Amino acid sequence: MKKHFLSLCMTCMLSMGALMAQVANYDVVPLPQTVNQSSAPGFVLNENTKVVCPEGNADMHRNAHFLCDYITEMTQLKVGHQSMPAKAKVAQVAKGNILLTLDPKIKNVEGYTINVTATGVVISGQTPAGVFLGIQTLRKSLPVLKEKPQNVTLPAVNIVDEPRYAYRGMMLDCARHFFTVDMVKEYIDLIALHGMNRFHWHLTEDQGWRIEIKQYPRLTEVGAWRSGTTVGKNSGIDDGVRHGGFYTQDECREIVKYAADRYITVIPEIDMPGHMLAALASYPELGCTGGPYEVSHNWGVFPDVLCMGKEDTFKFIEGVLDEVISIFPSEYVHIGGDECPRTRWAECPLCQKRIAEEGLVAQEGRSKEDLLQGYFTRRVEKYLHEKGKKLIGWDELLNCNVDLSSTIMSWHGAEPGAKAAKLGHDVIMSPNKPMYFDHYQTDNISHEPLSIGGNETVKDVYSFEPVAADLAADQAKHILGVQANLWTEYVAYPHHIEYQVLPRMAALAEVQWLQPAKKDYDAFLGRLKRLKEIYDMHNWTVAQHVFR
Ligand code: ACM
Ligand code: ZN
Repeated sequence: MKKHFLSLCMTCMLSMGALMAQVANYDVVPLPQTVNQSSAPGFVLNENTKVVCPEGNADMHRNAHFLCDYITEMTQLKVGHQSMPAKAKVAQVAKGNILLTLDPKIKNVEGYTINVTATGVVISGQTPAGVFLGIQTLRKSLPVLKEKPQNVTLPAVNIVDEPRYAYRGMMLDCARHFFTVDMVKEYIDLIALHGMNRFHWHLTEDQGWRIEIKQYPRLTEVGAWRSGTTVGKNSGIDDGVRHGGFYTQDECREIVKYAADRYITVIPEIDMPGHMLAALASYPELGCTGGPYEVSHNWGVFPDVLCMGKEDTFKFIEGVLDEVISIFPSEYVHIGGDECPRTRWAECPLCQKRIAEEGLVAQEGRSKEDLLQGYFTRRVEKYLHEKGKKLIGWDELLNCNVDLSSTIMSWHGAEPGAKAAKLGHDVIMSPNKPMYFDHYQTDNISHEPLSIGGNETVKDVYSFEPVAADLAADQAKHILGVQANLWTEYVAYPHHIEYQVLPRMAALAEVQWLQPAKKDYDAFLGRLKRLKEIYDMHNWTVAQHVFR
């Protein structure tokens, strides 16, 4: 009897919960530039609501689908969508509905507005990408409900938003450890949820080559596999377990489309001329010594790199880039360029012959081998330009006398980025402090998963200012954006990826979106609690340090 009474109470409470007024809340991450909420009656969202989009616009139609799915995911309410005839009047169509529309008066290509009244909701963007970003804001405003309510009320509001930076990225290293296509898609979902628009995909390393190249099949037959992995930090103990995998070109195209549907550009990285052991194990003739080489079991920087003296090296790189370009529509190709020892080049007769032929002479703190990497990079950049592409590389390029047209990704802190901007390079800021999300996120590491080191807390990430105080306005405009990187020497499983990036991605999102004067860490932590409900709804593994 008692048991029966209890379960009756539970049922009543659940249904009361479902009936209780459920209200949206615009305290989202990243916080929009302006949120003008009023006490006027809000919009009542329920299963009669439709998401309406302009007829004949495939991007807006897809946007409408996304919004319907998000509404159901968050609130359990099932809403339909319909197309709006070209001549229909916005005010008329928005009545009782959520209208997605394009507005050329919005200045920023990713800018959007959200207008909520009792009559309807209108999300406008200059482009479908802007509308999608508005949809992300609306999505994050909704309550996370396990039981379907009758209605969700959206308080009356006018939101006007645009990002501070055009480039808002996250990198994932799929080379130190291989991750499935599904995991890569989940990473892209995280990028979309946080209002970001670039996925930098690190595809090649000493420990594995991960992209199918049809002209060079051994890259994936041999280079995609290692016969074991060091246990911990180069302990000398090998697990002896074969590890590897690669993405076929069709899978890469599938990822590119999955990202593009969410207005995210995939920037592929083929790291050259260092970090190339997997390629050398596949084609030993491309190294200075000719090998033999092995796909590395250990972590670090290795002396064997591509030989700069052989024309076959350039034929190889151009062949690889031809196929990469045919897959990735991104205007940029990332060519790495980091951590390339000069040891072999200094001893290789062919590399030294190249240095002599090109008249490379040590100057201003640059060795002739530094300039040899510059020669290589400029040649690769010229090739990319001929194909209509631009080059990004790590900040080591600054010491190689590369052309100003190359975009520099600053990782040895923010200083190389500031220096590059002063010289006139475009710059992406991804300083290892605090944007290396493979680092620890607390100084109390006794119960943390093994990490490469460092300590980049959520607050450190939040507090990062990409523009150094001494940059003039015409130099600061070269800072195109900000990115965080997840290297995966010590990250082998999806839950661990989630743990390293959540919630630090949320802090990064506010660096990418908010003007400095609007940043407020304590207020952010309040908003983050609401975003965490979405993380939890997805069962993502979230680091708890700021929630305790
Ligand atoms: C890097 O961390 N080697 C770019
Ligand atoms: Zn050589």
